[in-house]
Amino acid sequence: MSKVDEITREKWILGAFPEWGTWLNEEIDGEDVKPGTFAMWWIGCTGLWIKSENSTNIAIDLWFGNGKRSQKTKEMAPYHQMRNMTGGRATQPNLRAAPIVYDPFAVTTVDAVLSTHYHNDHIDPFFAAAVLKNCKEDVPFIGPKKSVEKWLSYGVPEERCRVVKPGDVVEVKDCKIVVLDSFDRTCLVTVDEDVRGVCPSDMDEKAVNYLIQTPAGSVYHSGDSHYSTYYAKHGKDYQIDVALGSFGENPVGCQDKMTSVDILRMAEALRCKVVIPFHHDVWTNFKADPLEILMLYNYKKNVLGYEFKPFIWDVGGKFVWPGDKDKIQYHYRRGFEDCFTDEPNVPFRSIL
Ligand SMILES: [Fe+2]
Repeated sequence: MSKVDEITREKWILGAFPEWGTWLNEEIDGEDVKPGTFAMWWIGCTGLWIKSENSTNIAIDLWFGNGKRSQKTKEMAPYHQMRNMTGGRATQPNLRAAPIVYDPFAVTTVDAVLSTHYHNDHIDPFFAAAVLKNCKEDVPFIGPKKSVEKWLSYGVPEERCRVVKPGDVVEVKDCKIVVLDSFDRTCLVTVDEDVRGVCPSDMDEKAVNYLIQTPAGSVYHSGDSHYSTYYAKHGKDYQIDVALGSFGENPVGCQDKMTSVDILRMAEALRCKVVIPFHHDVWTNFKADPLEILMLYNYKKNVLGYEFKPFIWDVGGKFVWPGDKDKIQYHYRRGFEDCFTDEPNVPFRSIL
């Protein structure tokens, strides 16, 4: 049989996806986190993997799905959160714009699985299944009530789930997870009924923010929170080293992600040392250029006396605190560090 006869769509999918294979899994597993530091990796969207100096691994909002893949459904389902919020009916063109950089089924070790809220891009059945199969039997699944309900619907045992709300503190080995208020107003209007004129009171059951305190420093994960003046309270209550905020270019009629202005205001209010935008990578219809944050930062830093720095990251990239705190932009490893180990195999040196 010729090669073209053996080639199937399934072979292509298994050979090409996830795009990074187990490259990043191997990097995280092999990372030797030095005392006085912590390492973290951007898994895409708001997915974040944190590894402490004592090898505590915390996975927040990991998600390995995608968005629209066909144009056949013309309208959003009744009560879809974006339909609730915008009053529009047409299917939003949110196609996945970033690659999948981690293989959930190749997970070997994790100490806690966290979700900020239950929207499909912040909780994942594939990762849950792989953790149950590959990792220790006591790894907790930690999230607000609605996230836990979703894990239970996947079949995660109830005894593995832990419902948290703002004010809770959970210890995971050498790290503390401080549960804080979310300001995700899109989550607030994720409802299956007519709520026009109704004041909701279940924010804390739907979404939370987290402060992860490692022995070497802390990370504030704001989930899909919008801008809130209450960031200033969190900034007064806690020492925050690195803060991540959901950034995006909101389509007209939609208020879902923080803008560049909001990201800088959030960083100022949280009194963090480094602010990192995320989520702007993943949806085609909310795609935004994070360099806009850097431009605005440079415009305002002197007059407002900013005491933080922005860090513009790439999906799959690593950040080490505090070693990378003054880096402004990430670049993937460029390789060829061992050039000229051998004499190049070229006709003569002047060709080089
Ligand atoms: Fe999201």
